[in-house]
Amino acid sequence: MNYKGNEKGWVETIVGPMYAGKTEELIRRIKRMEYAHKNYIIFKPNIDDRYSDCEIVSHNKKAMKAVGIDHGSEIKRHLKKDVQAVVIDEVQFFDKSLVKYLKELADNGYRVICAGLDTDFRGLPFGPIGDIMAISESVTKLTAICSCCGEPATKTQRIINGKPAYYNDPIILVGEKESYEARCRNCHIVLTGNEEDDK
Ligand code: ADP
Ligand code: TMP
Ligand code: MG
Ligand code: ZN
Repeated sequence: MNYKGNEKGWVETIVGPMYAGKTEELIRRIKRMEYAHKNYIIFKPNIDDRYSDCEIVSHNKKAMKAVGIDHGSEIKRHLKKDVQAVVIDEVQFFDKSLVKYLKELADNGYRVICAGLDTDFRGLPFGPIGDIMAISESVTKLTAICSCCGEPATKTQRIINGKPAYYNDPIILVGEKESYEARCRNCHIVLTGNEEDDK
Protein backbone atom coordinates (compact mmCIF):
# COMPACT_ATOMS: atom_id res chain seq x y z
CA MET A 1 0.00 0.00 0.00
CA ASN A 2 1.42 3.39 -0.95
CA TYR A 3 1.10 6.82 0.72
CA LYS A 4 -2.38 7.71 -0.52
CA GLY A 5 -3.82 4.24 -1.05
CA ASN A 6 -3.83 3.37 -4.74
CA GLU A 7 -3.16 6.84 -6.12
CA LYS A 8 0.12 8.40 -7.22
CA GLY A 9 2.48 10.04 -4.74
CA TRP A 10 4.18 13.42 -5.03
CA VAL A 11 7.46 15.31 -4.59
CA GLU A 12 7.97 18.06 -1.97
CA THR A 13 11.18 20.08 -2.05
CA ILE A 14 12.69 22.38 0.58
CA VAL A 15 15.42 24.77 -0.60
CA GLY A 16 17.37 27.79 0.62
CA PRO A 17 20.91 28.80 1.59
CA MET A 18 22.93 27.18 4.36
CA TYR A 19 21.49 27.73 7.89
CA ALA A 20 17.96 28.38 6.50
CA GLY A 21 16.52 25.45 8.46
CA LYS A 22 16.14 22.92 5.61
CA THR A 23 17.25 19.95 7.69
CA GLU A 24 15.14 21.10 10.66
CA GLU A 25 12.12 21.38 8.36
CA LEU A 26 12.78 17.86 7.02
CA ILE A 27 12.90 16.57 10.59
CA ARG A 28 9.65 18.42 11.43
CA ARG A 29 7.87 16.76 8.48
CA ILE A 30 9.32 13.36 9.45
CA LYS A 31 8.05 13.72 13.04
CA ARG A 32 4.57 14.52 11.69
CA MET A 33 4.70 11.31 9.63
CA GLU A 34 5.39 9.43 12.85
CA TYR A 35 2.16 10.84 14.35
CA ALA A 36 0.36 9.68 11.19
CA HIS A 37 1.88 6.17 11.54
CA LYS A 38 3.51 6.42 8.10
CA ASN A 39 6.69 4.46 7.40
CA TYR A 40 9.61 6.34 5.90
CA ILE A 41 13.25 5.95 4.99
CA ILE A 42 15.84 8.76 5.03
CA PHE A 43 18.77 9.00 2.58
CA LYS A 44 21.79 11.25 2.45
CA PRO A 45 24.73 11.48 0.03
CA ASN A 46 27.87 9.77 1.36
CA ILE A 47 29.92 12.79 0.27
CA ASP A 48 28.50 14.88 3.15
CA ASP A 49 30.21 13.35 6.17
CA ARG A 50 30.26 16.56 8.25
CA TYR A 51 28.88 15.09 11.46
CA SER A 52 28.01 11.51 10.72
CA ASP A 53 27.81 9.09 7.79
CA CYS A 54 24.58 7.48 8.99
CA GLU A 55 22.49 10.46 10.12
CA ILE A 56 21.08 13.70 8.78
CA VAL A 57 22.15 16.41 11.21
CA SER A 58 21.04 20.06 11.49
CA HIS A 59 23.35 22.92 12.44
CA ASN A 60 21.98 22.84 15.96
CA LYS A 61 22.64 19.09 16.15
CA LYS A 62 19.16 17.64 15.72
CA ALA A 63 19.78 14.24 14.11
CA MET A 64 17.91 11.31 12.56
CA LYS A 65 19.18 7.97 11.27
CA ALA A 66 19.75 7.87 7.52
CA VAL A 67 21.13 5.57 4.84
CA GLY A 68 24.19 6.94 3.03
CA ILE A 69 24.17 6.45 -0.76
CA ASP A 70 26.40 7.56 -3.64
CA HIS A 71 23.79 7.52 -6.43
CA GLY A 72 20.02 7.77 -6.89
CA SER A 73 19.95 4.29 -8.44
CA GLU A 74 20.66 2.85 -4.96
CA ILE A 75 17.36 4.11 -3.47
CA LYS A 76 15.16 1.31 -4.82
CA ARG A 77 17.12 -1.53 -3.27
CA HIS A 78 16.65 -0.08 0.25
CA LEU A 79 12.85 0.20 0.03
CA LYS A 80 11.11 -2.35 2.23
CA LYS A 81 7.53 -3.28 1.39
CA ASP A 82 5.92 -1.13 4.07
CA VAL A 83 7.73 2.15 3.22
CA GLN A 84 5.40 4.98 2.15
CA ALA A 85 7.71 8.01 2.14
CA VAL A 86 11.26 8.62 0.90
CA VAL A 87 13.19 11.51 2.45
CA ILE A 88 16.49 12.80 1.00
CA ASP A 89 18.70 15.56 2.42
CA GLU A 90 21.46 17.44 0.52
CA VAL A 91 20.05 16.57 -2.92
CA GLN A 92 22.36 19.13 -4.56
CA PHE A 93 25.22 16.61 -4.28
CA PHE A 94 23.57 13.99 -6.55
CA ASP A 95 23.84 13.97 -10.32
CA LYS A 96 20.94 14.93 -12.59
CA SER A 97 19.75 11.32 -12.93
CA LEU A 98 18.27 11.70 -9.43
CA VAL A 99 15.34 13.54 -11.05
CA LYS A 100 14.34 10.37 -12.93
CA TYR A 101 14.44 8.26 -9.75
CA LEU A 102 12.37 10.81 -7.78
CA LYS A 103 9.76 10.92 -10.55
CA GLU A 104 9.59 7.11 -10.62
CA LEU A 105 9.06 7.00 -6.83
CA ALA A 106 6.24 9.58 -6.96
CA ASP A 107 4.64 7.81 -9.94
CA ASN A 108 4.67 4.63 -7.86
CA GLY A 109 2.80 6.18 -4.95
CA TYR A 110 5.60 7.33 -2.66
CA ARG A 111 5.62 10.66 -0.87
CA VAL A 112 9.08 12.06 -1.69
CA ILE A 113 10.52 14.85 0.46
CA CYS A 114 13.82 16.45 -0.64
CA ALA A 115 15.94 19.20 0.84
CA GLY A 116 18.96 20.93 -0.63
CA LEU A 117 20.78 24.13 -1.50
CA ASP A 118 19.11 26.01 -4.35
CA THR A 119 22.37 27.82 -5.18
CA ASP A 120 26.10 27.20 -4.77
CA PHE A 121 28.56 29.75 -3.32
CA ARG A 122 28.51 31.57 -6.68
CA GLY A 123 24.75 32.05 -6.48
CA LEU A 124 24.06 29.64 -9.38
CA PRO A 125 21.71 26.60 -9.40
CA PHE A 126 23.38 23.67 -7.62
CA GLY A 127 23.48 20.27 -9.43
CA PRO A 128 20.04 18.76 -10.08
CA ILE A 129 18.13 21.22 -7.85
CA GLY A 130 16.53 23.26 -10.65
CA ASP A 131 15.12 20.15 -12.30
CA ILE A 132 13.97 18.74 -8.95
CA MET A 133 12.13 22.00 -8.18
CA ALA A 134 10.54 21.84 -11.64
CA ILE A 135 9.09 18.34 -11.15
CA SER A 136 7.96 18.98 -7.55
CA GLU A 137 4.31 19.42 -6.56
CA SER A 138 5.44 21.71 -3.74
CA VAL A 139 8.54 23.89 -3.27
CA THR A 140 9.32 25.65 0.02
CA LYS A 141 12.01 28.33 -0.12
CA LEU A 142 13.44 29.15 3.29
CA THR A 143 15.73 32.06 4.21
CA ALA A 144 18.43 32.35 6.87
CA ILE A 145 19.62 35.59 8.51
CA CYS A 146 22.36 37.58 6.75
CA SER A 147 25.49 37.48 8.90
CA CYS A 148 26.43 41.01 7.74
CA CYS A 149 23.22 43.06 7.90
CA GLY A 150 20.55 40.93 9.62
CA GLU A 151 18.18 40.95 6.61
CA PRO A 152 16.76 37.66 5.23
CA ALA A 153 19.59 35.69 3.58
CA THR A 154 18.97 33.90 0.29
CA LYS A 155 22.60 33.08 -0.54
CA THR A 156 25.59 31.26 0.90
CA GLN A 157 28.90 33.11 1.21
CA ARG A 158 32.03 30.94 1.00
CA ILE A 159 34.98 32.39 2.88
CA ILE A 160 38.51 31.02 2.47
CA ASN A 161 41.31 32.40 4.68
CA GLY A 162 39.07 35.30 5.65
CA LYS A 163 38.36 36.28 2.01
CA PRO A 164 35.38 35.61 -0.31
CA ALA A 165 35.97 32.61 -2.59
CA TYR A 166 36.65 32.97 -6.32
CA TYR A 167 34.14 32.14 -9.06
CA ASN A 168 36.42 29.41 -10.45
CA ASP A 169 36.96 27.63 -7.12
CA PRO A 170 35.61 24.05 -6.90
CA ILE A 171 31.85 23.92 -6.40
CA ILE A 172 31.90 21.12 -3.84
CA LEU A 173 33.51 21.91 -0.49
CA VAL A 174 31.82 20.18 2.41
CA GLY A 175 31.95 22.49 5.40
CA GLU A 176 30.40 24.53 8.15
CA LYS A 177 30.88 27.88 9.89
CA GLU A 178 34.65 27.85 9.18
CA SER A 179 33.93 28.21 5.43
CA TYR A 180 30.36 29.44 5.02
CA GLU A 181 28.00 32.27 6.08
CA ALA A 182 24.41 33.08 5.15
CA ARG A 183 24.13 36.40 3.28
CA CYS A 184 21.53 38.53 1.49
CA ARG A 185 21.98 39.54 -2.16
CA ASN A 186 23.47 42.91 -1.16
CA CYS A 187 26.16 41.44 1.08
CA HIS A 188 27.00 38.34 -1.03
CA ILE A 189 30.42 38.55 -2.75
CA VAL A 190 32.06 36.33 -5.39
CA LEU A 191 35.55 37.35 -6.46
CA THR A 192 36.40 37.09 -10.17
CA GLY A 193 40.20 37.15 -9.88
CA ASN A 194 40.26 40.37 -11.94
CA GLU A 195 41.66 43.14 -9.69
CA GLU A 196 39.49 45.89 -11.23
CA ASP A 197 36.26 43.89 -10.72
CA ASP A 198 37.21 42.70 -7.23
CA LYS A 199 37.93 46.19 -5.75
P1 ADP B 1 20.18 24.00 6.78
O1 ADP B 1 19.97 22.54 6.64
O2 ADP B 1 19.25 24.82 5.92
O3 ADP B 1 21.61 24.40 6.56
P2 ADP B 1 19.67 23.55 9.60
O4 ADP B 1 18.25 23.05 9.67
O5 ADP B 1 20.75 22.54 9.71
O6 ADP B 1 19.83 24.44 8.27
O7 ADP B 1 19.96 24.62 10.76
C1 ADP B 1 19.14 25.73 10.97
C2 ADP B 1 19.63 26.37 12.28
O8 ADP B 1 20.88 27.02 12.06
C3 ADP B 1 18.76 27.50 12.82
O9 ADP B 1 17.64 27.02 13.56
C4 ADP B 1 19.74 28.23 13.73
O10 ADP B 1 19.78 27.63 15.00
C5 ADP B 1 21.09 27.98 13.09
N1 ADP B 1 21.70 29.16 12.44
C6 ADP B 1 23.05 29.41 12.44
N2 ADP B 1 23.32 30.51 11.73
C7 ADP B 1 22.15 31.02 11.27
C8 ADP B 1 21.79 32.14 10.44
N3 ADP B 1 22.70 32.98 9.95
N4 ADP B 1 20.48 32.32 10.15
C9 ADP B 1 19.55 31.48 10.65
N5 ADP B 1 19.83 30.40 11.44
C10 ADP B 1 21.12 30.15 11.74
P1 TMP C 1 23.47 22.64 4.57
O1 TMP C 1 22.66 23.28 3.47
O2 TMP C 1 22.74 21.53 5.25
O3 TMP C 1 24.00 23.64 5.52
O4 TMP C 1 24.71 21.91 3.90
C1 TMP C 1 25.30 22.36 2.71
C2 TMP C 1 26.56 21.58 2.38
O5 TMP C 1 26.96 21.94 1.05
C3 TMP C 1 27.76 21.87 3.28
O6 TMP C 1 28.52 20.69 3.50
C4 TMP C 1 28.62 22.80 2.44
C5 TMP C 1 28.34 22.35 1.03
N1 TMP C 1 28.48 23.37 -0.02
C6 TMP C 1 29.27 23.09 -1.14
O7 TMP C 1 29.83 22.01 -1.28
N2 TMP C 1 29.40 24.05 -2.12
C7 TMP C 1 28.78 25.28 -2.05
O8 TMP C 1 28.92 26.09 -2.97
C8 TMP C 1 27.96 25.55 -0.87
C9 TMP C 1 27.25 26.87 -0.76
C10 TMP C 1 27.85 24.57 0.11
MG1 MG D 1 21.06 20.81 6.22
ZN1 ZN E 1 23.04 41.47 4.12
